[in-house]
Amino acid sequence: MLQTPGIEISITVMVVETLMLIAIFVGWYRGARRLDFKLHHLAVYSIVLVHVVNVALWMIPQALSISGEVFGNPVRFWYVILHDSLGIITLMLAIVLVLLFILKPGMPLRILRRARPVMIIVLIVWIVTFAIGGLVFLLKLLANP
Ligand code: HEM
Repeated sequence: MLQTPGIEISITVMVVETLMLIAIFVGWYRGARRLDFKLHHLAVYSIVLVHVVNVALWMIPQALSISGEVFGNPVRFWYVILHDSLGIITLMLAIVLVLLFILKPGMPLRILRRARPVMIIVLIVWIVTFAIGGLVFLLKLLANP
């Protein structure tokens, strides 16, 4: 299934995405939880920047190249459709947060109250998207021994 090329790139992307998930937890645990928003924002900016590069240069071209196979059999490839859809939503919300942090520096309490639920949603959906991405990666690895 999904015999897309570039297993070496997939492995690299998987490693980078895993490191970013760890960075997200560091940003939350050492940054947001301790109200160190300088560290928190630095983590968010770096993660979103690297992630945008991964998605734009690798995941979207890959998604387009397998779209015929995926949409030809959506029941079988439901997890790919779910991954891509959740991924787009998460990325959009993350970019909105980045813009908010840049436009309103220092994280005033009023903004923190509004942004908090969005940050929690992004965190949860990001983890779910990552887990499905891990599944896509595993299946690809098995298909390309
Ligand atoms: C929060 C957002 C996202 C996360 C955390 C995420 C995570 C991952 C991970 C960990 C992998 C496995 C590495 C790999 O096989 O290359 C993967 C693969 C993939 N992702 Fe995403 N992803 C996200 C967004 C997206 C978006 C927006 C799209 C496209 C619309 C997308 C399309 C794909 C595709 C097609 C693959 C398989 C690539 C391959 O052939 O190896 N992802 N993703």
